[in-house]
Amino acid sequence: MNAEYLLKAQEILEKMTLKEKIGQMTQISYNGKNFDAVAEKIEKYGIGSIILAGSAFAGNTAENGTNVSGIDRLQKTAVENTRCGIPLLFGRDVIHSHKTVYPINLAMAASFDPEAVEHCYNEIRDEAAADGVNWTFAPMLDFCHEPRWGRIIECQGEDPYLASKMAGAIVKGFQGDDLKEPGMIAACAKHYIGYGASEGGRDYNHTEISDYALYNNYLPAFRSAVDAGVATVMNSFNEVNGVPVAASRRLLTDVLRGDLGFDGFVISDWASITQLKNHGLAADNRDAAKKSLYAGIDMDMVDNCYLDHIEELVTSGEVDITEVDTAVLRILYVKLRLGLFEHPYRVRKEQDLAKHIEDSKLMCEKSMVLLKNEGGLLPLKKEGSYCLTGPFLKERQSHVGAWSLATESMTVKNIEEAVREAVPGAEITVLDEIEAQYVYPRNCDVIICFLGEPKCVTGEAQSLADIGVTKQQAELVKSLKKSGKPVVGVLCYGRPTVLTEVEPLFDAMIYAWHGGTMAATAIAEVLFGDAEPTGRLPVTLPMSVGQLPLYYNALPGARIMNGYYNGESRMTHNYNDCPGTPLYPFGYGLSYGKFDYSVAAADESELSFKDLMSGRKFRVSVDVTNTSDVSSTETVQLYVRDKVASRVRPLRELKGFKKITVDAGKTETVSFGLSLKELGFYLEDGSYITEPGEFEIYVGENCLTENSVTVKVTA
Ligand code: GLC
Repeated sequence: MNAEYLLKAQEILEKMTLKEKIGQMTQISYNGKNFDAVAEKIEKYGIGSIILAGSAFAGNTAENGTNVSGIDRLQKTAVENTRCGIPLLFGRDVIHSHKTVYPINLAMAASFDPEAVEHCYNEIRDEAAADGVNWTFAPMLDFCHEPRWGRIIECQGEDPYLASKMAGAIVKGFQGDDLKEPGMIAACAKHYIGYGASEGGRDYNHTEISDYALYNNYLPAFRSAVDAGVATVMNSFNEVNGVPVAASRRLLTDVLRGDLGFDGFVISDWASITQLKNHGLAADNRDAAKKSLYAGIDMDMVDNCYLDHIEELVTSGEVDITEVDTAVLRILYVKLRLGLFEHPYRVRKEQDLAKHIEDSKLMCEKSMVLLKNEGGLLPLKKEGSYCLTGPFLKERQSHVGAWSLATESMTVKNIEEAVREAVPGAEITVLDEIEAQYVYPRNCDVIICFLGEPKCVTGEAQSLADIGVTKQQAELVKSLKKSGKPVVGVLCYGRPTVLTEVEPLFDAMIYAWHGGTMAATAIAEVLFGDAEPTGRLPVTLPMSVGQLPLYYNALPGARIMNGYYNGESRMTHNYNDCPGTPLYPFGYGLSYGKFDYSVAAADESELSFKDLMSGRKFRVSVDVTNTSDVSSTETVQLYVRDKVASRVRPLRELKGFKKITVDAGKTETVSFGLSLKELGFYLEDGSYITEPGEFEIYVGENCLTENSVTVKVTA
């Protein structure tokens, strides 16, 4: 913590009444239309924060845009019409867009390009700050192995290391190098912790998380966000070990602050304090308020439990005033870090929106994953005859994903328009889906079929029991296949989807996610070679929903039968009716070029534990050769396997990746530095250890690579 801010916060706190303190611990909703009611509450209670949203489902409901003049006037009310004059935090779900919509977070994770993601968040931040937003409820860092869960689209992938890199990038993107600089936005690491483990992907459902998994899988991204200086954290709706996080002092205080060193403030997720009654953990809102404050929730989002009950809890002696003072101190500390007392009003900053749009398109291209490309069918020639069809050919709104607010008025190009624009010299025919079920196209070279899921079945409270391609869409592909023509599939899904039924029918497939404002243009550019799809899967694509949960960083079982790594045999296999292998594994993706890897080599095959403890690194390198005749981009991935340890360790753990572009015929040497950090793991008590022994280091194009070298750490 910064001593100067702490001292200043203490000075402000000492002048505050109990009512004013409780006002600071309260966030109320401003939907752009209820100005008078909000202004009145600010004057009456000294409210600490406004959420710029009208409902608990900001992502799925038609939200208003930010009422910029209203925000300015509310800030003026707080600064000039309250006794303490403490400026407001204006929070909003700026998840992957404000005006310009970038690809959904799961897609941006597929870019394996944290630097590019950080740059996108600089632009998202500038657009939001210009409208008066000074606090965002992002990054969402839920660790998730469950594609049925609608909110997997907001996640950073199924791997803790990749998620940690994305967490740091997004926090830096919003908060910049100095949060105090005008125009920066306070970030919020959410949902702490374990929401992504909701059983069966059923939202808001029970979670079973061992402490071993908590420390090794669920916490790393939050640790990375805290290390990046994230200003706030939001609790999750779920319970862990029978205690709802909103009432868990162990998680919200002992672990978050004690283990991770978090020094900002915690805000409750929408109404999650009053929801303690639904959990059966609180008898009423008074009980809920007491339990959440004690657990470590500093600010109450919209359910008014603190506003209605904390004063009486303190005056009755049931809650000690120090608990209130601690919460308010943290809130004031963040406001001081954000420089709110010096510059409470929004920063009017010139926006190069054209550049933002272009950058969102580039990010879309970096996120798209080429899954199949038989005979190098893609990229397609610009002069040719193409038949376009499928439910996503004319779709617009679903490209912006389930968490882009106030996009109804936004003009999003559809794919047909984008393709016609990209290849004016091509002969384009459009086949209506209904017609396509009776007539298959003859007068074209290639059929391009655009499938996907609407954004309304993704996001909060939008889980699916069946994540396969719908029957109608599969039937469409089957009828197209009868034409004998090459068929390209462009797949616009937010979540990982089971493609098993259609995969054999396509000659080429691109996973395009929900790619944002410029999705259609990016898809057209990739199809016709103006850009290369360079994404790699941040999540496993299963063969069947029956395999779930299915993920790459699996722990070895008692018998060698992990289908993910082809460990099955006649006697020992995962299922009788389905292989245990994924359709496509974590880290998978093709390029338009082709790459050869040399055998992985380590500069030291044996190191002493003492050397490692003293900070010694060793390096593992490969030569990557582009054997094609086009410049192309590859994401070189490094995985570690701790072969014998005091706990069961994953079959593969991603511990490094480098995205490189190599000219045709050229070779690039890629080298990774490894230290104690990459070889260790957390015990269930939260302590981090690295043990001597043999480590298999894999370097290749995805998690299934067998290209490895053994490194021994001697005791
Ligand atoms: C929602 C979501 C959370 C969001 C908050 C404010 O219920 O769980 O991610 O930031 O409420 O809209």
